[in-house]
Amino acid sequence: MRPFQLTRTLPEDATGAALRADVLHGLTRAPKSLPPKWFYDARGSELFEEITRLPDYYPTRAEREILADRAADIAAATGAHTLVELGSGSSEKTRLLLDALPTPLTYIPVDVSESALTGAADGLLADHPDLRVHALIADFTRVLELPEAPGPRLVAFLGGTIGNLLPAERAEFLTSVRKLMAPGDSLLIGTDLVKEESVLVRAYDDPTGVTAAFNKNVLDVIDRELDADFDPDDFDHVALWNREEEWIEMRLRARRDVVVKIPELDLVVPFAAGEELRTEISAKFREEGVRAELSAAGFVPGHWWTDAAGRFALSLATAG
Ligand code: SAH
Ligand code: AVI
Repeated sequence: MRPFQLTRTLPEDATGAALRADVLHGLTRAPKSLPPKWFYDARGSELFEEITRLPDYYPTRAEREILADRAADIAAATGAHTLVELGSGSSEKTRLLLDALPTPLTYIPVDVSESALTGAADGLLADHPDLRVHALIADFTRVLELPEAPGPRLVAFLGGTIGNLLPAERAEFLTSVRKLMAPGDSLLIGTDLVKEESVLVRAYDDPTGVTAAFNKNVLDVIDRELDADFDPDDFDHVALWNREEEWIEMRLRARRDVVVKIPELDLVVPFAAGEELRTEISAKFREEGVRAELSAAGFVPGHWWTDAAGRFALSLATAG
């Protein structure tokens, strides 16, 4: 098996410094909030994979259905020799694209989760021994430096992860991705679509408690990395549909008055009983909105494909 290259583009301790800055900022403001990227240590990445198998969590299955139907069209439309994937996670659905794209093919998965990247690369190389894999441990919300690789390139951002960014963050993100791209390159984006509230809320509040464990995992990350004393049992998992913003919000609600010590930050954080900490938004989209956001960032929107039930969409755009 060909070994893969693994590059850490974050300077030593950048992760720790970024976590400290986000926790200090997010827990000292009202209302309290944290960016969702901190869910994904090794345990968080495993819990996300468990979520993708839950009966009520439809996005992964819906996107897989579209990829299975359209991978050949995507390969023909892009002719890509390099696939860059942002927030690649387990790269499970990506296999459908890798099978369809022409060889030789370079695959550049980009993720903050080192365990997800190495697990995915090992698994892919076992099945695609000729694939060149250059995995990047990097934060896609920061300026990315991609390794040299043959064009045309297809940049994929699957799973609906773009919905975990706030609208202003999305605009900034799409603009910086556009700057990475050359004429002839393409962008493939997965977006979950607006639908009935009960279906959406069930997808984020499963009866088996896997999503609750995923949500609370961010507290374990802060306890471990910053020596804090959050007790996850002091908080309830909350998932609600924000009708105005058209996004799901995940929150952690204090079950009682709680005082958390974070010695690494020299910080004491009080939570009043019932107070909530927002841990994630997951925006749901409409076709006009996605096309407008792509155009505003300098892309030329093209194909719009949905699964048969119209729950999820894949958009293909060109760099113009
Ligand atoms: N694309 C996969 C995984 C989605 S889960 C799928 O469709 O199933 C979201 C992934 O994005 C996780 O692997 C997480 O570690 C990664 N991620 C989240 N925020 C990130 C960031 N700011 N930079 C890089 N990776 C990030
Ligand atoms: C990664 N992302 C697209 C998932 C989502 O649906 O927003 C994360 C997730 N949060 C709770 N369940 C899944």
